[in-house]
Amino acid sequence: MTARKIFVTTALPYANGNFHIGHIMEYIQADTWVRAQRMQGSAVDFVGADDAHGAPIMIAAEKAGKTPQQFVADIAAGRKQYLDGFHIAFDNWSNTDSPENHELSRQIYLDLKKAGFIETRTIEQFFDPEKNMFLPDRFIKGECPRCHAKDQYGDNCEVCGAVYAPTELIHPFSALSGAKPVLKTSEHFFFKLSDPRAVEFLTEWTQDGKHVQPEVAAKIKEWFGVRTNPDGSTSEGLDDWDISRDAPYFGIEIPDAPGKYFYVWLDAPVGYLASLKNLLNQRGEDFDAYMADPRLEQYHFIGKDIITFHTLFWPAMLKFSGRKTPTRICVHGFMTVNNGEKMSKSRGTGLDPLKYLSLGMNPEWLRYYLGAKLNGRNEDIDFNPEDFMLRVNSDLIGKYVNIASRAAGFIAKRFGGRLGAVSEDGQALLAQLREAKDAIVAAYEARDTARAAREIMLLCDRVNAYVDANKPWELAKKEGMEARLQDVCSTCIEAFRILTIYLRPILPGVAAEVANFLIVPPESFADVGQPLGKDHQIGEYQHLMQRVDPKQLEALFEPPAAPVAEAVKPGGEEIAETISIDDFAKIDLRIARIVECKPVEGSTKLLQLTLDVGEGKTRNVFSGIASMYQPEQLQGKLTVMVANLAPRKMKFGISEGMVLAASHADEKAQPGIYVLEPFPGAAPGMKIH
Ligand code: 2FM
Ligand code: ZN
Repeated sequence: MTARKIFVTTALPYANGNFHIGHIMEYIQADTWVRAQRMQGSAVDFVGADDAHGAPIMIAAEKAGKTPQQFVADIAAGRKQYLDGFHIAFDNWSNTDSPENHELSRQIYLDLKKAGFIETRTIEQFFDPEKNMFLPDRFIKGECPRCHAKDQYGDNCEVCGAVYAPTELIHPFSALSGAKPVLKTSEHFFFKLSDPRAVEFLTEWTQDGKHVQPEVAAKIKEWFGVRTNPDGSTSEGLDDWDISRDAPYFGIEIPDAPGKYFYVWLDAPVGYLASLKNLLNQRGEDFDAYMADPRLEQYHFIGKDIITFHTLFWPAMLKFSGRKTPTRICVHGFMTVNNGEKMSKSRGTGLDPLKYLSLGMNPEWLRYYLGAKLNGRNEDIDFNPEDFMLRVNSDLIGKYVNIASRAAGFIAKRFGGRLGAVSEDGQALLAQLREAKDAIVAAYEARDTARAAREIMLLCDRVNAYVDANKPWELAKKEGMEARLQDVCSTCIEAFRILTIYLRPILPGVAAEVANFLIVPPESFADVGQPLGKDHQIGEYQHLMQRVDPKQLEALFEPPAAPVAEAVKPGGEEIAETISIDDFAKIDLRIARIVECKPVEGSTKLLQLTLDVGEGKTRNVFSGIASMYQPEQLQGKLTVMVANLAPRKMKFGISEGMVLAASHADEKAQPGIYVLEPFPGAAPGMKIH
């Protein structure tokens, strides 16, 4: 049988925030599936990327004072700690602003155009006259046309749930500038999903039982039926999809359409292919040849909120641009915390993945807990702290790890770490464990890790029952039972090896430690049939996993402490230490007239000032203000100087004092230096008190 070749992705996260627990759940689900595939000999490439484009990211970047590229790069830099932390092993992580994605998106678009699937149409849209841009629905607010709730979004009301067009809002305003939006026409590009070819293809593709779960197919079917539009009219079949946005937009420019960009959702899924291409480039492999392999399967793991994009738009884009369509879209539900309570950071009910790690909680506890709940269907799952603790402590520690810890000590102490022969009853037990392989592998294949975990825990129960029946701790005390003790414990060690292989897709870290302990790397599912055998020398057993401590869970869900008010820093720096009036009196500040002001040859920073401080002579002072003032602007003006500062020898001459000027501590953020000027009436020589 030829090995399967599979290309796997998870949904690409928007690059405007850190990962939340929902992302981590999806990645763990996909990572587990990928590992199980590899353990069957499949060649898998598992890629992710940041979804970089779109108006919200452009606006967030602007607010942060960064270019969108810099903004996205800064978010991307924070990804690794989460992925490594939870043992999620993508083969590549790219972003949708990559050259590969620009090129592929444009090519796919051109191919769709050639096939007659692109149409332009003039539409009317809200435009912000202050920001000079068309407003995305989410950036228009106003009063709900149904329930009259104030401050509702342009596409739906969060109070009464009504869905409407932004033009229906009462007293609409731009959430960006507060300006009243005006209607403006613009030419938009549409992907003609209403084309009978698209409807026919998608009906078959979504309903043939091969590409999505049955509950997902049923949901999609509703979208093909008759439905009511926001304006009250009805439509049937599929609507054309608006795939363009006007500048300014952070995205990919549409070929031969200056100022027009692809809507972010057009190029986002192309990012899957682009990240793969980027990976293949690094490896020196050819992307087209890779994709042309008829064996290639393409799996996308996604959440239930983005089904439309992945089961209608994306397969249609691929199909009608002459490309391979996805093999499967694996849809999961949402994750809730504490019995479906909506996650909220301020109320402390959320589960912050980084906080989880920083508390020293084992990432594989979470992998196991989620794995034991995910069954491959589009259902929500709940994280319940007590349930989590019970599940992990009783299954992983009480059932699984326990097997090794009960047997390893005797093998080490009594038999110098050597395994013995396994007699008939032990062989029978091990045979049962090996027989379960196909069922467990099938459960992984179906992403029913809940079933896999159940099967494995049943096997653990059997092994523990065997231990309880044979009581090695009693055998150890009896005369002449040495051989039986070694037999029973060797059976346990071999059972533990098999169970570790079964759990390996979920617990890769533990499996690696077990490999050190058994001195044999448990790698593929096929290794289940390769027993360690008599006289195999095992390594030292080290405790594989701690129990979940209730204190950790308490800390995890403790609401974040109210932020300590940061010291206010006027002008970018804290006010200096308190001084006495005597300290201040030491500084002799005087009014000075700038009699003359000249540039300093060889310096772009300094100006040379000749100051009259009423002393009957002038003073020479160099001041670093050349970036702000032309000499003639200052000449004749009054200012303030430190008159009793020790003269200082500088490269350009002696400076006899210092002119007072104001600036922000962070020169880059707030450039500028401003010379002080007294109110009218002040005269050279007057002292400042
Ligand atoms: O919903 C989201 O978070 C999107 N950024 C997912 C994109 S998936 C793919 F199309 F890139
Ligand atoms: Zn409403």
